[in-house]
Amino acid sequence: MHSENLKPIYSYIAQQIVDDYKITKGKCLDIGTGHGAMGIELAKITDFEMYFIDINPDSIEEVKQNVKNTNLNNKSHYLKADVCNLPLMDNFADFIVSRGSLWFWHDQIKGLQEINRVLKKGGVAFVGGGLGRYTPQDLREKLQGKGRKKLIERGETGFLSGDELQALLDKTGIDNCRLISDVENKPATWIEIRK
Ligand SMILES: C[S@@+](CC[C@H](N)C(=O)[O-])C[C@H]1O[C@@H](n2cnc3c(N)ncnc32)[C@H](O)[C@@H]1O
Repeated sequence: MHSENLKPIYSYIAQQIVDDYKITKGKCLDIGTGHGAMGIELAKITDFEMYFIDINPDSIEEVKQNVKNTNLNNKSHYLKADVCNLPLMDNFADFIVSRGSLWFWHDQIKGLQEINRVLKKGGVAFVGGGLGRYTPQDLREKLQGKGRKKLIERGETGFLSGDELQALLDKTGIDNCRLISDVENKPATWIEIRK
């Protein structure tokens, strides 16, 4: 699941998140964490107490090892859990990030509703996929070319963007949310929920 080519993008996205939302402490969930790079890069530049969450037990083992290798000072927790049934109380998290995972959820509406349920009042969730706004154009072009080819080869066509993402959001009944694009005038690939 981990691509070496994607490695640089996580720190760009983490910096974008901190710049845009200015939330740097409290509880942060990285849902569908995989190898954990998104949460790890965010933890490096914040005081977040991290919750690395994934449905796949192998990912949980991988992220534990990656956090260990990174020598993070942030308090970190590891949950093998389904986004559609999070074992967390309401109003729990100050920030939630989920990158590259939404397309794999077995019930995307339920998953987004669960994220909204566990998000604290005043908190923000940033869910979707893409390379973020700060990834330089040359790297973006290189990665998008490779990424698309791989998706086609693997027959993965579940990626949602633009109108499809809006239609999904409409079905959730969640207020205070909007779609975000990485690049101006391109279809949105992220959902932002503010509570
Ligand atoms: C493509 S990886 C993304 C990894 C990482 N977040 C990134 O941005 O590179 C998708 C991850 O979502 C996880 N996942 C899929 N369905 C899930 C679900 N229902 N609940 C939680 N995690 C899920 C997978 O196990 C996998 O680790």
